Amino acid sequence: MGSSPTIGSAAEFSPPQHDTTADRPLSIPVIIGTPRQGRQSEHAAHFVFEQAKRRAGVETELIDVREIPMRVDDAGEQINDPDYASTVTRCDGLILVVPEYNHGNPAWLKHVLDTCLEEYIHKAVGICGVSAGQFGGSRVIENLLPVMRELGLVSTSTDVNVSNVRKVFGEEGNLLDRASCVAWPSFSTS
Ligand SMILES: Cc1cc2nc3c(=O)[nH]c(=O)nc-3n(C[C@H](O)[C@H](O)[C@H](O)COP(=O)(O)O)c2cc1C
Repeated sequence: MGSSPTIGSAAEFSPPQHDTTADRPLSIPVIIGTPRQGRQSEHAAHFVFEQAKRRAGVETELIDVREIPMRVDDAGEQINDPDYASTVTRCDGLILVVPEYNHGNPAWLKHVLDTCLEEYIHKAVGICGVSAGQFGGSRVIENLLPVMRELGLVSTSTDVNVSNVRKVFGEEGNLLDRASCVAWPSFSTS
């Protein structure tokens, strides 16, 4: 018989501790997931942000990936933006509003997400997929779920899917077609 592998102490494997019993609102920022000029998903992000603001017991803010300075001159977490990292550290969960690009996620969003790690652990994440087509970003959501897991985030069991985004929101971002924002009620309570 071989010797047993050495098992470290429980403390060695303790995840970051979050105060989940505090008598305070939950902090759940909404992330606009693309920097693209002319992005339509920004309208969906504002819609989700306004809905989140209306939830009792929730504090939110809008994080625009376009405004997060991203360095390319160092490795991994060394390039993280201190403001983004501190917002994620303070938050209890995140909502990502993500357009579908070639069935995947905007590369810029992934780059931003990858700059943190322990800040995410055991926090909730909900994803709102947005597409010009009829599938409401469902493919980008499916692609992102294993990424969320690897980051230590815990995904909600429901998503929001915004299909045909150009028909759902007007030029000024006004909601034209609520029926196309599938699953908002169940998402917002999960
Ligand atoms: C590079 C690129 C790839 C895209 N790929 C898809 C796609 O795979 N499926 C889809 O439904 N829409 C696709 N679209 C259209 C987007 O869904 C559309 O632009 C929508 O408005 C959401 O993205 P936006 O926030 O950048 O505007 C793509 C758009 C771009 C710019």
